[in-house]
Amino acid sequence: MQRSTFRIMTSKDKASKVPLSSTMPAVVVSIIFMPALCSTADVTCSKPNQPSLLAALTPIFNLSAIRPVLNQTTVTNVSVSFTLYGILGVDEKAQLLTTYIWLDYWWMNEFISWDQAQCGAKKISLPKEKFWLPDIVINEFMEENKAPSVPYVYLYNDGAVHDAMPVRVVSSCNLNIYTFPFDVQNCSLTFNSYIYYAFEIQVLLGSPAENITEDSKSVMTTMGEWELLDITALKTPNNDTMLYIDELAFYIRLRRRATMYVVNLLLPSCFLITVDLFSFLLPPQSVDRSSFKMTLILGYTVFLLIMNDLLPITGNTIPLINVFFSLCLALMVASLLETILITNLFCNSAGFSPVPRWIRVLILKIIGCLVCMPQKKPKDSVQRTSTVVARGESDGGPRETKGSSEDNKALQELRSLNKVLLDIRVQVEQQQKGKQSSEDWIQCCLMKIKPSKHLCILVSLLMIASCSSAALNCSQPGPTSLLSSLQTAFDLSAIRPVVNMSTPTTVSIGFTLYGILGVDEKAQVLTTYIWQNLEWQNEFTTWNAEECGVEWVAIPRTLLWVPDVVINEFMEKNTAPDVPYTYLFYSGQVYDNQPVRVVSSCRLDIYLFPFDIQNCTFTFNSYIHSIYDIKLDNLTSAEEILKNSQDSMTTMGEWELIGIKSELKRIETLDGFAYDELHFYISVRRHPIMYVVNLLMPSCFLITVDLFSFMLPAQDIDRSLFKMTLVLGYTVFLLSTNNLLPITGNTIPLINVFLSLCLILMVSSMMEAILITNFLRGSAHYAPPPCWVRKFVIGVLGQIVRLPAKTSQQGDTVIENPNKQEMEDLSQVAEENEKEQQNEDETVEVLKNLGSDLQVIHLQVLQHLKATPSYEEWIQFGLVIDRLLFIFYIIFITVSFISIILIWVNSYKT
Ligand SMILES: *[C@@H]1O[C@H](CO)[C@@H](O)[C@H](O)[C@H]1NC(C)=O
Ligand SMILES: *[C@@H]1O[C@H](CO)[C@@H](O)[C@H](O)[C@H]1NC(C)=O
Ligand SMILES: *[C@@H]1O[C@H](CO)[C@@H](O)[C@H](O)[C@H]1NC(C)=O
Ligand SMILES: *[C@@H]1O[C@H](CO)[C@@H](O)[C@H](O)[C@H]1NC(C)=O
Ligand SMILES: *[C@@H]1O[C@H](CO)[C@@H](O)[C@H](O)[C@H]1NC(C)=O
Ligand SMILES: *[C@@H]1O[C@H](CO)[C@@H](O)[C@H](O)[C@H]1NC(C)=O
Ligand SMILES: *[C@@H]1O[C@H](CO)[C@@H](O)[C@H](O)[C@H]1NC(C)=O
Ligand SMILES: *[C@@H]1O[C@H](CO)[C@@H](O)[C@H](O)[C@H]1NC(C)=O
Repeated sequence: MQRSTFRIMTSKDKASKVPLSSTMPAVVVSIIFMPALCSTADVTCSKPNQPSLLAALTPIFNLSAIRPVLNQTTVTNVSVSFTLYGILGVDEKAQLLTTYIWLDYWWMNEFISWDQAQCGAKKISLPKEKFWLPDIVINEFMEENKAPSVPYVYLYNDGAVHDAMPVRVVSSCNLNIYTFPFDVQNCSLTFNSYIYYAFEIQVLLGSPAENITEDSKSVMTTMGEWELLDITALKTPNNDTMLYIDELAFYIRLRRRATMYVVNLLLPSCFLITVDLFSFLLPPQSVDRSSFKMTLILGYTVFLLIMNDLLPITGNTIPLINVFFSLCLALMVASLLETILITNLFCNSAGFSPVPRWIRVLILKIIGCLVCMPQKKPKDSVQRTSTVVARGESDGGPRETKGSSEDNKALQELRSLNKVLLDIRVQVEQQQKGKQSSEDWIQCCLMKIKPSKHLCILVSLLMIASCSSAALNCSQPGPTSLLSSLQTAFDLSAIRPVVNMSTPTTVSIGFTLYGILGVDEKAQVLTTYIWQNLEWQNEFTTWNAEECGVEWVAIPRTLLWVPDVVINEFMEKNTAPDVPYTYLFYSGQVYDNQPVRVVSSCRLDIYLFPFDIQNCTFTFNSYIHSIYDIKLDNLTSAEEILKNSQDSMTTMGEWELIGIKSELKRIETLDGFAYDELHFYISVRRHPIMYVVNLLMPSCFLITVDLFSFMLPAQDIDRSLFKMTLVLGYTVFLLSTNNLLPITGNTIPLINVFLSLCLILMVSSMMEAILITNFLRGSAHYAPPPCWVRKFVIGVLGQIVRLPAKTSQQGDTVIENPNKQEMEDLSQVAEENEKEQQNEDETVEVLKNLGSDLQVIHLQVLQHLKATPSYEEWIQFGLVIDRLLFIFYIIFITVSFISIILIWVNSYKT
């Protein structure tokens, strides 16, 4: 029992385990014949050649099941050293580092020593399976070693053993990508024995860390994305009880080569934001800036799409570069919103009430001075008109008096021409520019632009910125004699180790969750890495601790009976490193610990993604034994498992462990049997922040742009084109975020609904824009709207949305009356001209033609500008409908977003 609580370690080492099994079954019978060998531990060769050395060593091979020491209290020192040969890659999402290393182990085999002269050789290489090998594993190792295996070890005449092998290490590493792409990773490789305690195996540093670093740097061939900085070693301090597992930790520091990311990610982003900055130079009065900026945002979205697979993805931290990109997007969106506001002011301000006093004072005077745009003299335009008029008069006046009659006629002609032109000018000025309030509003806008430009530069500067049985008899104290005695038990390894078959074996089960490697939503599979602890009673292997001088011994698992406990949800072969040894106590207690890479099926509910909590089950049970043979029990409480797991879990990936519950169930079958099942419910919660930053926020930005686009004056700006670009941009955004979203067949996650809703909203607002554009621009030839439209829409709804029907007749008459008078005047002039036709010179003729041409143009302009009542009403109708749908749109967005957010918040709290 206590053993399992001490146990905090695990991992693998493939090379060391498998070989032992083949030689073991027959192993220990012989030991009766060789007490002499055990005590002297000296090998005598008949001849100084290799075959005789091999013959002399052969008896030793039968002792490979136990640690090669003469006295159990002797520690086996294993020296570890390695050379880092290649850095194959880093997987940020799974938090894995893949390296290729050459491992070297050195230890002493006390059973062996020979005289070099007598045997003729200082060292000999022999197959690994002939000897005991330490079960040294790398704790962070998450997968089986896929490097080629090396079958031999070197044996020296003083008993030293040298084992070397290549290992492809897939190790978990807590990757901190906050400063990506300028990040330095500090990954650890912890070497320790999986089951032997410090009083049996100690792990020592084989060569100084500086030498390891130097050697690694000189041999490293793959010069990929990563550069090795240094390797440091740290040894756990000794402690007196020795009841711990001795560890040797190496810290490998790696630096990412950032050039590619700077060129591919940061520079283009800076270019685009510079373009955005320069777009403020586009004159807002004459160029449609909003379309330009919308296209820029579209371009940026496409850029993000292309760069998406360059960016690292993890759940727990958001790299600064993501913040940078989001900030760029946010800035672009903000500048677009600003542009929309400004455009709105420029185009609509003619109809606004005069600028309030405080705005005039605050913005025009104070801020205006700050950004060096003093207020324009409002009299400017008036003065200019008057000077023009005055000039016209002064030009005409003197000549009138001086000139001849022909000149007079020509002058008359010119004056009438001038008058017509003036009329046209005044008319155009009235219609297009508005009055003084418009001038003031425009001045406001120009000033707003300037501060925002300054702000933009400021922000971009700021941006620069992880029993009952018969006891065994020993012939003499010591592990070797115990091994020979245990042989009888090894022969019985095929049957359940109980003397009376009606005694059930109770298997206690516990585990420590060491890593959550990932969740595959499509396959509905959860991948975890656990250290599994099993404990049961073996009635055949009890001995007297005093007589044998040994309280426990570690022997290969294959020599003993092991229960067929499986995890029901297990879907794949265990690819965790194999650990070959189990602990055996004199009382018959067996402690079997091994790492298991669990790929378990789990019913994943992604409705609330990315705020989801998954509840997965591990069901431990014996595959064929009923409770009359095997009973199950908890080794430790679920709370302890949870605490141990949270303490030892190093990888802080996308998932966080939040709870473990256990439950023992007895399943009765129809034919009277019953089976025990031990259920563990594991609750893991997803870290949502990455999805919030990468999915939800850009989506909200774009829908905000869509919302603000209602402020674009529909009469002057082509809103539908703008919205079409927006929808295109959103589609590209959806494309880029596609691989972030989980895919399953059964449920649609709420976030998909959210994203689809955004798209639907954009599309419907675009259709609305088309409709409104039709009313506002294409209704000139429509029949007058029906009476109910006039009364209900324009009257009632217009009041509700605060767009009362314009008292448009006043304006019309004001414009019409002078025009009619002018036309009459002009026709009189034309008649007079006809009368005096014959007397005219050719110049007068030309002037006359010119005059009549201008008249025609004037009339046409008048006709065009003068709105027919039905046209006015249709425009009013369009504006009312636009405002009404805008209000509905806001209400719908608010309600649906609030309800989705409420669902998320609720689920995240529980
Ligand atoms: C070792 O075991 C083998 C059987 O595998 C046996 O034939 C041999 O005699 C044993 N050697 C010694 C020295 O006991
Ligand atoms: C083992 O070593 C310890 C101390 O080194 C000694 O006290 C003990 O007697 C030894 N046991 C045997 C069986 O030699
Ligand atoms: C093992 O190493 C320790 C120091 O870490 C030393 O005291 C001990 O003597 C060594 N044992 C053997 C058998 O070399
Ligand atoms: C790497 O991390 C370990 C602990 O996680 C720390 O002890 C060690 O000093 C770090 N190495 C460097 C070079 O920062
Ligand atoms: C470590 O390197 C130094 C100098 O490079 C060398 O003298 C020393 O023998 C090396 N040590 C080992 C254990 O290889
Ligand atoms: C162990 O020795 C005792 C006497 O000392 C004997 O009664 C018993 O049968 C022996 N057990 C075995 C398994 O040989
Ligand atoms: C086995 O144990 C059961 C009950 O514990 C007992 O009835 C039976 O006689 C025992 N059998 C033997 C062979 O000892
Ligand atoms: C997980 O599900 C099981 C039933 O399927 C339930 O008993 C258990 O309480 C759930 N655990 C959590 C943490 O919700």
